[in-house]
Amino acid sequence: MEKNEIICGLDIGTTKIAAIVGKVDEEGNLNVVGVGTHPSHGLRRGVVVNIEKTVDSIRQAVQQAELTSGHRITKVFAGIAGDHIRSLNSKGVIAVSGKDKIITKKDVGRVLDAAQNISLPRDRKILHVLPQEFTVDNQDGIKNPVGFAGTLLEAEVHIITGAVTAIQNIINCIEEAGYEVGNNIVLEPYASSLSVLHEDERDLGVAIIDIGGGTTDIAIFFDGAIRYTKVLGIGGEQVTNDLAQGLRTSKDQAEEIKKRYGLAMQSLLQKDELISVPGVAGRLPREISRSVVAAIVEPRMEEIFQLALKYMEKSEVYDSLGAGVVLTGGASLIEGAKELAQRVMGMPVEVGIPRVYGGLVETVRSPIFATGVGLLYYAIKHGTTQPPEPPLITKIKKMVEDIFG
Ligand SMILES: Nc1ncnc2c1ncn2[C@@H]1O[C@H](COP(=O)(O)OP(=O)(O)OP(=O)(O)O)[C@@H](O)[C@H]1O
Ligand SMILES: [Mg+2]
Repeated sequence: MEKNEIICGLDIGTTKIAAIVGKVDEEGNLNVVGVGTHPSHGLRRGVVVNIEKTVDSIRQAVQQAELTSGHRITKVFAGIAGDHIRSLNSKGVIAVSGKDKIITKKDVGRVLDAAQNISLPRDRKILHVLPQEFTVDNQDGIKNPVGFAGTLLEAEVHIITGAVTAIQNIINCIEEAGYEVGNNIVLEPYASSLSVLHEDERDLGVAIIDIGGGTTDIAIFFDGAIRYTKVLGIGGEQVTNDLAQGLRTSKDQAEEIKKRYGLAMQSLLQKDELISVPGVAGRLPREISRSVVAAIVEPRMEEIFQLALKYMEKSEVYDSLGAGVVLTGGASLIEGAKELAQRVMGMPVEVGIPRVYGGLVETVRSPIFATGVGLLYYAIKHGTTQPPEPPLITKIKKMVEDIFG
């Protein structure tokens, strides 16, 4: 990627759509130069269920990002989540080709191809093949085998797959909104990990948990590589729903109460306070104590952390999480979320804020933008190459399908 090239990350979340415009400055730092957000109404638990509403929110968010940045956006890097996401670890092995038996980039490409040779049902597609480590003859633990001499090259990789329809719906929404899809669609927790985690955390072993509105996403790293990923269809929206029911108020009011007075651990409340809850359908407002709010929020947050823990335990490297857990996503802003996670999971927990520079840092340095900023880091890391299928071809294909069914 060229210095000062303008890139745009598009986080299509269940609660909000965020477009983040950035560029890499002379020092190699990511500068954010534009931000646009718009409420998202077309997704359920991370998956697009209403194309029209999603297209509209994408347009609004990107247009706002164009205005704040003063740049015209043509291409966006987008993420994907939803409980259709699956992941597995796989291996591939090849014979090194050259006469001198020195491993080249081409050999690495071939072994990664071999490692992704898994049988997949037709309705699923590979999103990422992320290398973990290579073995050259009997020497294992090699991060980059190019230049090594050897006869057999083996690769261990983490493969992430998703439902073809869910992936295609995101691509269609972006194209319908008038933008090109940069590179491929990126798994959201992987994107978040790029903006929030530090290299030493990834080496020591760390789990990132991104609790959004509709999903809770997990990614586990050890020895510098990704080892495990999981997307769960539960998130901050459930907490809001519980409050709306428990306090007999509207969802909008419950959302407001959650953000202002939400508390994930009752025992943290040193002195109780009274808060006013507006009544529904013309009823008078009532006063309730904050401990009641905490009593509603805590069990749901506890359930989310327990579920996350149950899946984290399935990872082979669960016992090696030396750097503990990094919480991110909007719901990590609920007061006491960190302390509760620490109690439930029995390991150190931090809240992860995306790393950015530039004029808009105050806006963007929030767990809400971990994915959006991470998509920019993905674009920087993996290059801003053209999408695998040019949008024009996709459009013609779609037109043909529309006409001939
Ligand atoms: N200040 C705050 N305090 C508590 N909760 C908050 C705060 N700000 C946002 N949230 C909650 O965070 C959630 C949204 O988080 P986020 O923006 O990360 O989700 P999303 O990316 O839109 O959704 P998903 O990733 O699940 O598709 C909502 O449930 C919202 O109520
Ligand atoms: Mg999200």
